[in-house]
Amino acid sequence: MNNSFTKIAIIGSGTMGSGIAIVFASAGIDVNLVDVDKRFLDKGMEQIGKFLEVSVKKEKITKDEQDSILKRIKPELNLEKATKEIQLVVEAIIEEEESKKELFKQLDLLCTDDVIFASNTSAISITTLSSATKRSDKFIGMHFFNPPIIMKLVEVVVGSNTTEDTVEKIMNLCKRLGKEPVPSNEAPGFIVNRILWQFLNESYKLLESGIAEKENIDKAVKLGLNHPMGPLELSDYIGLDVMLHIGEYLAIQFGDSYKPALILQKLVGEGRLGKKTGKGFYDYVE
Ligand code: NAI
Repeated sequence: MNNSFTKIAIIGSGTMGSGIAIVFASAGIDVNLVDVDKRFLDKGMEQIGKFLEVSVKKEKITKDEQDSILKRIKPELNLEKATKEIQLVVEAIIEEEESKKELFKQLDLLCTDDVIFASNTSAISITTLSSATKRSDKFIGMHFFNPPIIMKLVEVVVGSNTTEDTVEKIMNLCKRLGKEPVPSNEAPGFIVNRILWQFLNESYKLLESGIAEKENIDKAVKLGLNHPMGPLELSDYIGLDVMLHIGEYLAIQFGDSYKPALILQKLVGEGRLGKKTGKGFYDYVE
């Protein structure tokens, strides 16, 4: 049984995976960062490079720290190579149950028995995902928030078969990463996204029913609730495809009152996925 984490694999080098890689590498942990396609892997590494560059300019880290963080993150396309001599997998691929299960099934065959599997899923049942493996005792949710480097919270989601030992190791690891872990028993959307989804979905419904302009919805929420971002701005930041997956999943679990507003489905259908594609509720220029 391993008690300390020195090397991990993060699967998925998108918005979350690339940010989570910086969090681990900054804590002195080696990271193999994996994606299915070289283009996505290159993009993830580019985002990491840019973030560290800005951090040096803002004097948040030194040039030496930038170099050592970068050295600890190794891009890798081969899952077998990436999972050698690791103690933990953090999965951060697309929010689709079947894709995640398929990946965990492969990982279960590649990884030694003591490796802990953590999913960064926003809403999907940890117990369901763990059923694709033979290690549901060592399977847990590690739900980081966007951007992972800045946001303090990690929801530690406990599946039906997750052992106390696994929970304790992951809670301790989160603290070592400088995060505030909050444990939650398994339930669709856990704590934050169950609440957040209804709030964001109402803002989409307000917009589509013509009650207020998008800028005014965001302005009212920022000023009235003292939120740093309006709900539409925040959705663009998270990714509209990610929000749609969360909403569709919660609607299956909790019923029609959770069903995604039509405008969200329409925007995703048009490829307007938010900041990452340059267009969402708003248009962005680089
Ligand atoms: P993203 O779309 O930015 O990145 C996903 C990456 O996974 C892509 O680069 C894709 O090529 C890669 N991928 C897909 N299938 C793969 C596979 N089988 N093997 C390796 N790589 C694969 O998505 P994002 O936003 O980073 O979300 C990832 C996960 O994190 C999702 O489960 C999402 O719900 C969750 N999450 C997202 C947050 C957000 O604000 N975007 C916040 C917290 C959790």
